[in-house]
Order: sequence, then C-alpha cells, then structure tokens
Amino acid sequence: MAEKAKVAIFISGRGSNMAALLYASLIDDCPYEVCLVAANDPEAEGLSIAAAEGVPTYALSHKGMPRADHDAAMEKAARDAGAQYIVLAGYMRILTEGFVGRWRGRMLNIHPSLLPKYTGLDTHARAIEAGDSHGGVSVHLVTEELDAGEVLGQVAVAIRDGETPDTLAERVRFAEHQLYPQVLARYVARESDPDFLLERVRDLALALPQSHERESHGSPGWRAGSEKSGKYFAYFNDQHHGSEHIALLVKTGSLDELLNLVETQPDTYFKPAYYGASGWVGLILNRPDCDWDHVAEWLERSWRAVAPKSATKLMDAADKF
Ligand code: GRF
Repeated sequence: MAEKAKVAIFISGRGSNMAALLYASLIDDCPYEVCLVAANDPEAEGLSIAAAEGVPTYALSHKGMPRADHDAAMEKAARDAGAQYIVLAGYMRILTEGFVGRWRGRMLNIHPSLLPKYTGLDTHARAIEAGDSHGGVSVHLVTEELDAGEVLGQVAVAIRDGETPDTLAERVRFAEHQLYPQVLARYVARESDPDFLLERVRDLALALPQSHERESHGSPGWRAGSEKSGKYFAYFNDQHHGSEHIALLVKTGSLDELLNLVETQPDTYFKPAYYGASGWVGLILNRPDCDWDHVAEWLERSWRAVAPKSATKLMDAADKF
C-alpha cells in the first residue's frame, strides 16, 4: 500500500470527531494517519484522548494573541509534524485568509447541517424552527468564506416529532462519526488514484484550443493541431517503465532545464525513461501537495511549444483580457 497521508486534526473541545477519525485510522488499510492533534484550548478533552493513544499533541491558547500569530503557531506545529492535510473537527476559530489559502484543497471541516443550509451557529435549532424534515451533517473543503467550500459528503438525519436541538445534535453526532473518517479516507486516497488524476489532467488538456486525445504506446496523450497533423504536447504515465510515479510528461525547453528541475525539485519532477532524453520532464501527480494551477501552466507551456500559430494567437488574445 502507498504511504499513508499525514493528517493534523485541530480541535477546541471534546474531540469526539477527532476520536472517530483517530480510531478509524488504526483500522487496517486506512489511507491516512494522524500525525498531530492540536487545540487552541489547553484544557480540550480531546488532547488527553490523543495523548493516551500515543499521538503527538500541541496546545496553544489563543487568548491575548493576535489571530495571525496564533494561526501561524498552529500552522507551524502542523508542518513540523509533517502534516499534508489539516482536518478541523470542532475547531472554533475563524482562520486567517493566508492560512486557508496555503492549505487550499488540503483543509477539511465538518459542519452540523446540510450545507448550503445553515452556515454558522445554532444549526439544529434553526432546522427544527424551519420545520425541516431532516437536519444533518456535511464535510466540506475549507475556503475563505465560512462553511462555503465544496461539499465532499453529507448524511441527512431525520427530525422526529418533539425533537429538541440537543436530541438532534446527539444523533447527528453519530452520523458525524461515520461520515468524517469515510470522507477523509476517500479524499486522501484520490490523490493516488490514477483514474481521478487522469480525469483532472484530461479536463485541463482538452480545455486548450485545438487539442485532442490520442493514445501513444498504451498511454493517454494529447496533441495540438488537427487530427491529421497534430503534435503531442502531453502524455499521462501511470507508473510506466518501472517508475513509481503517476505523472504528466510535458516538454521543457532543453535537457539542461529538465536536469535542473529534477535536481532542484526531486519531489516534483523526474526524468522519464526514453522521453527524458528529448527534453520531456515528468511532473509527479500522485503527491498530496500537487498544485493543479501549476499543472495547468505546464500543460499550456507545452501546448504552446507545438500548437499551430493560429491557435497560440487566439490564446494570446484571450490572455489579454
Ligand atoms: C461537531 O458537532 C461538529 O459538527 C462541529 O463541532 C462539533 C464538534 O464536536 N463542527 P466534537 O468536539 O468533535 O465532539
């Protein structure tokens, strides 16, 4: 099995979701492991649960501290622990934009409502008050806007007659404990799922003008220009020629450039067999910090190197707007 993704969990209180995530991680084949549990309240009960299980903990009260400084300290603790994902589980803090931005696509949160309904607080009371048939829980990606990132999974929980916010919250919590570990496991696993990675690359490659897909030696590839005379600008390699990487092959300017990239950023680039000799570099996709804007930039650059003038001119014109 591939290396497990390292996850830091941030809590503020009881930490029952943290415990659910932690115990799920101890089941065979779970694709993530908990490398840190951190809290903004040194008294948070969840800290002792984590410590008892031998998970490193970190606590720093936010009281009297500027928000940015507190965020920076929490972020440093996560990085020092080797975290590739940050998972918020009842972490009652609004985070600074910079922090959220640096963890885009790698920070998840659980919210006790069926988003987009009822962002913010008192979600159960509001669902009951509105006469909804169901409350529930959502796991979502964290973005700068509160409770507004992409929803990755939800469970609806029926509201019974005479339900109070407390009785509903208690049952929703059962659903939370089922949902969060499952969604997190699925989310981290897709980073090494060739089908998921191919789909993303394909979307980006085919979005470029005059591009089409054609298989080459058993690998998906993309060409710029007409079906008849188009030239390849990218190939998708799923652990080809003994490589452990799932990668995108794109054209660099020269062998020197390629070698320099591989030497200075070995976690991102490698020199692929055969293709490497003619300046194609392998951009590694199966890593948690894969930056998809960067992948898109490489695809465009490689496309530009072979695309017909008519197409690059159109692109230049579009780029001006
Ligand atoms: C949960 O209800 C979660 O949905 C919300 O905060 C609560 C945390 O509970 N974000 P716990 O600390 O995990 O027990």
